Amino acid sequence: SKTIYLKDYQAPDYLIDETHLTFELFEDHTLVHAQLVMRRNPALSADLPVLTLDGQQLELLELKLDDRALSATDYTLTDSHLTLQPTQASFVVDSSVRIHPESNTALEGLYKSSGMFCTQCEAEGFRKITYYLDRPDVMSSFTTTVSGDKQKYPILLSNGNPVASGQEDDGRHWATWEDPFKKPAYLFALVAGDLWCVEDKFTTVSSREVTLRIYVEPENIDKVQHAMDSLKKSMKWDEEVYGREYDLDIFMIVAVNDFNMGAMENKGLNIFNSSAVLARAETATDAAHQRVEAIVAHEYFHNWSGNRVTCRDWFQLSLKEGFTVFRDAAFSADMNSATVKRIQDVAYLRTHQFAEDAGPMAHPVRPDAYMEISNFYTLTIYEKGSEVLRMIHTLLGEEAFRKGSDLYFERHDGQAVTCDDFVKAMEDASGIDLTQFKRWYTQSGTPRLAVAERYDAAAKTYTLTFIQSCPATPGQRESDKLPFVIPVELGLLDAQGDDLPLRLQGEAAAAAGSRVLSVTEAQQSFTFVDIAEKPLPSLLRGFSAPVKLSFPYDRDQLMFLMQHDSDGFNRWEAGQQLSVQVLQELIGQHQRGETLELDQRLVSALRTLLQDGSLDQAMVAEMLSLPGEAYLTEISDVADVDAIHGAREFARQQLAEALFEPLWQRYQANREVSRTTPYVAEAEHFARRALQNIALSYLMLTGKPEVLAATLEQYEACDNMTERLTALAVLVNSPFEAERSKALAAFAEHFKDNALVMDQWFSVQAASTLPGGLARVQALMEHPAFTLKNPNKVRALIGAFAGQNLVNFHAADGSGYRFLADQVIVLNALNPQIASRLLAPLTRWRKYGSERQALMKAELERILASGELSADVYEVVSKSLA
Ligand code: BES
Ligand code: ZN
Repeated sequence: SKTIYLKDYQAPDYLIDETHLTFELFEDHTLVHAQLVMRRNPALSADLPVLTLDGQQLELLELKLDDRALSATDYTLTDSHLTLQPTQASFVVDSSVRIHPESNTALEGLYKSSGMFCTQCEAEGFRKITYYLDRPDVMSSFTTTVSGDKQKYPILLSNGNPVASGQEDDGRHWATWEDPFKKPAYLFALVAGDLWCVEDKFTTVSSREVTLRIYVEPENIDKVQHAMDSLKKSMKWDEEVYGREYDLDIFMIVAVNDFNMGAMENKGLNIFNSSAVLARAETATDAAHQRVEAIVAHEYFHNWSGNRVTCRDWFQLSLKEGFTVFRDAAFSADMNSATVKRIQDVAYLRTHQFAEDAGPMAHPVRPDAYMEISNFYTLTIYEKGSEVLRMIHTLLGEEAFRKGSDLYFERHDGQAVTCDDFVKAMEDASGIDLTQFKRWYTQSGTPRLAVAERYDAAAKTYTLTFIQSCPATPGQRESDKLPFVIPVELGLLDAQGDDLPLRLQGEAAAAAGSRVLSVTEAQQSFTFVDIAEKPLPSLLRGFSAPVKLSFPYDRDQLMFLMQHDSDGFNRWEAGQQLSVQVLQELIGQHQRGETLELDQRLVSALRTLLQDGSLDQAMVAEMLSLPGEAYLTEISDVADVDAIHGAREFARQQLAEALFEPLWQRYQANREVSRTTPYVAEAEHFARRALQNIALSYLMLTGKPEVLAATLEQYEACDNMTERLTALAVLVNSPFEAERSKALAAFAEHFKDNALVMDQWFSVQAASTLPGGLARVQALMEHPAFTLKNPNKVRALIGAFAGQNLVNFHAADGSGYRFLADQVIVLNALNPQIASRLLAPLTRWRKYGSERQALMKAELERILASGELSADVYEVVSKSLA
């Protein structure tokens, strides 16, 4: 495999003005005819270099240049390219190829899923459909004709507007679609199948009427209303918040069962993993409802941030993904509880993206090299990329940020651009220089930010000193890294817990509340004046920068912040830091073989929360959740899996017993409302169920018969998957073996025909930390509903085991590692993208003690030696062993 470098970027030699495609779909092959209307790139010299088209796994049947049939001596064919010599500046290439969607298990290019044809072209899948310049800076208009059997494939879809259709005598029919907007090939889509749709309308701000359609398999037609509602909300939100209007007459979403990712933003024809569209009370949890809303919004928002303005090359991926994640997060915050959304995003970032930043695949938000682009759809590109945008928003303020985005969309509409172009638009619109800020795009690793305080009672000044640094990452030494611009939003609390006015030396009087400091140097101090008593700082409010902050809080100070901080995010954060301190103490006791003793201050802090009926219940639920084992692993130098698990479970058990009364009271009150109110997918109801369910999972740890009875009542009598799945998970992790087996069997019997619900059934069992986890997972792989060919199944069972069941996956005998490596080796041949993603837990071997390290490395080496590896798996394995 070879490495591609950003520094080698060259503009395309040739452009494709028009692309005319015809697909003839058959059961044992598909014929693709492409007519490419091309010309020499006018920005380059007038000579005519050879034309090199991308193409993989294509059987070339015919090739013409300007209507002249070419013979094998007129072109060169390799397994990845077709090269020919144009003779004039403008010309037309016609090709016919045969492909095999029916045996495509990689789910990239054109493939079949549950009897329907569909495509996934991002990033480099179009080259598996036809010979093309498969790069995002080649933008073309597309006309697509699809023909197929009318009975099997009554619905024939592609991008843009439908312009013609017809019947043939042989039972076949055809449809032609025209997309007037120029786009790169990665946004191409085709769907053919027996689908039903729900149709709706949206009237845009300029009074254009848009037809909205969501296509699904007939049996799922009752599960699309939530996605349709989400789509309409997204369209409205993008008009109001970003001034972005939809541009075609029709917008379609199609749900497919076999899909590597969550969803894809193809122009006018988004293709979704069915798990990211289908949602109704009985079959999808609250979390699934919120995920559908967020993904529908994300893909819709790409119509501007990605499609109208696209990426010049794949090094710029965060230009569209980071920005669009930032946009969908703001949308979700507006639709639900903003603070809870921020808490969830930050917890996810710190657990997973920070781990990526500390591992062998660490890379900057704009990488400068890759082997396989599919491996770079990472948490760094997406989540850290979104944080970078959020910091720009914080530094510029709402209004200037909006001016910047307006300028960006206006200036670059119809273009393929870079992250620099985006930042330039923000600079030009705001007048703020972001030169130093751009280091966030090029330097990898998570910055550390240590903060020290000094109070001078006589002078009434309070000084905060910030020291920033960033650890070494692959290809970047610590000493090479230059200071970042770190926006630190903060407040200073007085003894009553109120925010003080924040006035820096030399400034005029200020109002009380938060403000943002820009930390731009390796070491930098800020002195506040008129501070009558020593304050308590609330730092990095809202998590204003993706850094590892340290400040020497003691536990009483954290309890004070938990109750008084005016910033909801930092109230949660104080609780997390308190829990981390308490858990780390327990981990130490566990490692030294001492009796575990829980700091009672954590009990009393959580008791206060539970007893305060005025708090947002979703916040209480978040604050009751202890930091996860994966996060505790991430913040350890050497992660002791058993001590982490033992300590955390001990704390949960102690909390459950000490807080039984208030937990039981909140549980019963909320369950009573749930029992008497029909399911509603709205924030207030999510909040009630979240608290009810976390309370139940604590309560069951006491093993009391009344809790078992309540769990069974909830399991049987509830009207929604959120309550049912929690009851099932609680039973699965409980010692009540008979009830557990009975509930698992009843659930599987009732939902055996619903693949997405069965995925949840697999996940709940794969995540059970009771002993014998691997054997249970291996048995489940034999279940008739399981198949390695479906990515959702692989994620639900194997992914959940390796990612969420840390004690079992990290079994000291290495059996979990061996199992995962075995699955990766099989999947490497079937679906390289899924194999490569599944492998991530093994790449974190540096986090563990020497025995586990050796076992994990041995499995990586075994994968490396297992035979012909895909570029996807090879890159990850070789880099993590380097
Ligand atoms: N463009 C991506 C889909 C994609 C990812 C295609 C990787 C090819 C390779 C899409 O916009 C996306 O980002 N989807 C996310 C969901 C989103 C809410 C972050 C996904 O599929 O997970
Ligand atoms: Zn995206």
